Amino acid sequence: MDLVLKNIGLLATPTGTAARKGAEQGQITLIENAAVGIEGEEIAYVGRSEDAPAGSEVVDCGGRLVTPGLVDAHTHLVFGGWRQKEMARKLAGESYLDILKSGGGILDTVRQTRAATEAELLEKGKALLETMLAHGTTTVECKSGYGLTTQDELKQLRVAKKLGECGPVDLVHTFMGAHAIPPEYKDNRQAYIDLVCDEMMPAVKSEGLAQFCDVFCETAVFTIEESRYILGKAVKHGFLPKAHADEIDPIGGAEMAAEMGCISAEHLIQASDAGIRALGRRGVVACLLPGTSFHLGKDYARARDMVAAGVAVAVCTDFNPGSSPGLNLQLPMYLSCHKYRLTPAEALCAVTLNGAAAIGRCESIGSIEVGKQADLVLWDAPDLDYIFYRYGNNLVDRVVKRGRVMR
Ligand code: NIG
Ligand code: FE
Repeated sequence: MDLVLKNIGLLATPTGTAARKGAEQGQITLIENAAVGIEGEEIAYVGRSEDAPAGSEVVDCGGRLVTPGLVDAHTHLVFGGWRQKEMARKLAGESYLDILKSGGGILDTVRQTRAATEAELLEKGKALLETMLAHGTTTVECKSGYGLTTQDELKQLRVAKKLGECGPVDLVHTFMGAHAIPPEYKDNRQAYIDLVCDEMMPAVKSEGLAQFCDVFCETAVFTIEESRYILGKAVKHGFLPKAHADEIDPIGGAEMAAEMGCISAEHLIQASDAGIRALGRRGVVACLLPGTSFHLGKDYARARDMVAAGVAVAVCTDFNPGSSPGLNLQLPMYLSCHKYRLTPAEALCAVTLNGAAAIGRCESIGSIEVGKQADLVLWDAPDLDYIFYRYGNNLVDRVVKRGRVMR
């Protein structure tokens, strides 16, 4: 073997190549005194430490916890500037949607992203990804949606593509031209929607810049009908659909996401009972974003009801400059136990295998099994509960990415 991790106190991983839903989400594999053997970029041995094969490089894990690398299946990673100036308005009582309606919020980041060069966005993105990796995240989904012109959406997506090519963190890409109506189309919504569908989508596809397409289906952003239209076009152009649904107002976004056959639906704080059932029936992964509830002071999504309805739950950061400016997936992990009341086993599955399912990567990542990509986290922790119990400091000891020990 090229690399052997031995003396793992506890190895904790979900298993399989599909999302785990219902009771299965909490059924994970635990191996005490474990070892993992790696050949090249792949896992080639998982078992007891005393039976471990010899390795050219051996890491003594010193009794630590090892889990799969974290999969952050929902981020808005590439953007210009920040939005700390909004804090004063929020503290004075203005809501997220009020700020957006007045031309701030997402539209403020749009201005800053349009003004940024590709090189600037690339440098910034590299630093952000370095921080994510240091906190255990080995795969990141990355949305556009801060350009809102064809050129600026392509610019964002080209930067994201380069970030993925630079490594070591793997990226998957989502086109989200339907993130807001830009000011220049304020009085002509349909013209902007046509631009997204008939000009941006083919341009993004012809450059091979994104596999997924997302839409912000929300009051004062894109209606249910508009979202259905946009995602219908996206499917025709060869994208796999996703939707920001029922984040702020309960408008039937979950039902729409299920009806459109989305691979995942995002936020779902206000999803109705019928919407949750529909997600379960259609096998749509729920990407829940507790860091956003935390930062915006909103309710928390009904994760327990979703698990009970057989919905596969993933937990992600939603990293973005407005509603969730945190890169460290460990805070959402903590919140998913303490606010959603997921068990540590369910929450682990949510940030590994079910995250991978939300981005169509379950075959290759999300669990520690022979044949999967060798993405692992060594935690400064003696057991699984510990990483959902401590908060506020980085609990990662080292990360193994594609078979390489990163730090
Ligand atoms: O997922 N809700 C829409 N989009 C992002 C926020 C983007 C922003 O505020 O810049 C989200 O929360
Ligand atoms: Fe988001």
